[in-house]
Amino acid sequence: MLSRTRIPLPLQVALAAVAGAGSFVVARVVCTLARDHIHAIPFAAVLLTVVLLFARALGILFALPVGTAAILAYDWFYLPPLRELSEATYTLLATFLGMAVIVGTVATVTSRRAVAAERARGDMAEVQASLRRLALLIARGEVPGRVFEAVTREVRDHLGSDNATLVRYELDGTTTELACAGRPEPAVPEALIRHVREGGRAFRLDATAAGVPVVVNGRLWGMFSVGSAESQLPDDTEARMSEYTELVATAVADAQSRAELISSRARIVAAADEARRKIERDLHDGAQQRLVALALRLRTATHDGDKPGEVAEIGADLMTVIDELRELSRGIHPAVLSDSGLRPALRALARRSPLPVEVDVRLDGRLPQPVEVGAYYIASEVLTNAVKHAGATVVEISVKAEDDCLHLRVHDDGAGGATFAGGTGLLGLKDRTEALGGTLDVTSPAGAGTTVTARIPLEPGDGGRDAQAAIG
Ligand SMILES: Nc1ncnc2c1ncn2[C@@H]1O[C@H](COP(=O)(O)OP(=O)(O)OP(=O)(O)O)[C@@H](O)[C@H]1O
Ligand SMILES: [Mg+2]
Repeated sequence: MLSRTRIPLPLQVALAAVAGAGSFVVARVVCTLARDHIHAIPFAAVLLTVVLLFARALGILFALPVGTAAILAYDWFYLPPLRELSEATYTLLATFLGMAVIVGTVATVTSRRAVAAERARGDMAEVQASLRRLALLIARGEVPGRVFEAVTREVRDHLGSDNATLVRYELDGTTTELACAGRPEPAVPEALIRHVREGGRAFRLDATAAGVPVVVNGRLWGMFSVGSAESQLPDDTEARMSEYTELVATAVADAQSRAELISSRARIVAAADEARRKIERDLHDGAQQRLVALALRLRTATHDGDKPGEVAEIGADLMTVIDELRELSRGIHPAVLSDSGLRPALRALARRSPLPVEVDVRLDGRLPQPVEVGAYYIASEVLTNAVKHAGATVVEISVKAEDDCLHLRVHDDGAGGATFAGGTGLLGLKDRTEALGGTLDVTSPAGAGTTVTARIPLEPGDGGRDAQAAIG
């Protein structure tokens, strides 16, 4: 059908008008010759069959003017009374042909739009189905390697390209190929990898190779490339890949946070074990030894008869052991914190510090115990760090409750340069905060002091409820 060829529509319209005029000339000759030999009805049937064949072969745009012209010729030169060609008949013929071409054009444009819309709907349904398949894989917690393989396969099928490849940009400047679907040749061109890495956006190397960046949590993580050995990639290739690259980014971010969660849990367990071992050691080496010694002395004193002086001494020693035990339990949860809350506990912390500490606590009443304990230990460790590492002259601690969260900020005016990698203190605080459903950030530019901010939800359970609400 002509409408499916690449002939532009205006040219097709002009050709249809010419075909109409041509068919009038031919139909006139045929009508004049057949008039005395064939009956009008079978002749009309033949005419209509010819029009039908035109419609099937060339479409409505051609069939309408050809049919209109043929029927006019049949009327004028076959059925009596016959007509002579005059200005009036030419005008009528031109008007009929014009109308037929206009109606044919409108019908053609409308049907083409309908076909295009239908095709777009089909495409969209296919994309949605393939995105749904991939999203299911990610939601099931499938290992990233499998997700990457599935995405590259779907991208290749969706675009009809020869191959689709996912590569990851490594920190040392190299790249790792994670998955490849289709023919491995041609391999991902080096120039494409470089352009996407440097520009951070989609790049088309030539008509047969295109690359789209994969950005995870705001960082350029890798690149998706598609290639075609011979044929040209469609113009909208990059746009059609974007939804798939977003899915890859989601899968990667998901896997990363799962891995972080697992290692943070492992660190929390290790820290808890370490704390328990320390308490066991302190009890074993301190209070337990003293109690054993006191029991022995008590037995000797009983054997030797009444020795009031000795018993009084043992009583005093018992009081010391009780004090020691109390100190030990305070080490686990500072008594002032449990008894009076965060404000007095932070003030006590400030008083004991060798550095001047300004404390600004804006809270009404008490907070949930895990939040108070968390905030206290964060302030305590950050203050110890400021004393140990910063060479600071003053430390500011501020605490406020806002938006259902506790906001803690500890700032020193020291040397800066704090990192999570330097020891276990800051990392432990991060784990502690995240275990409470909060976040901890450290800003510590060299020479400009250190600021540690923590945000802890006052009701950690809310996160779970929100997530539940979000997934319905
Ligand atoms: N306020 C600060 N000013 C300057 N540097 C700091 C500050 N806080 C921490 N640092 C640096 O960051 C590193 C990490 O601190 P972190 O508290 O994790 O470990 P640490 O204090 O060295 O050891 P610990 O595990 O006993 O806490 C420190 O070694 C130090 O170099
Ligand atoms: Mg420390």
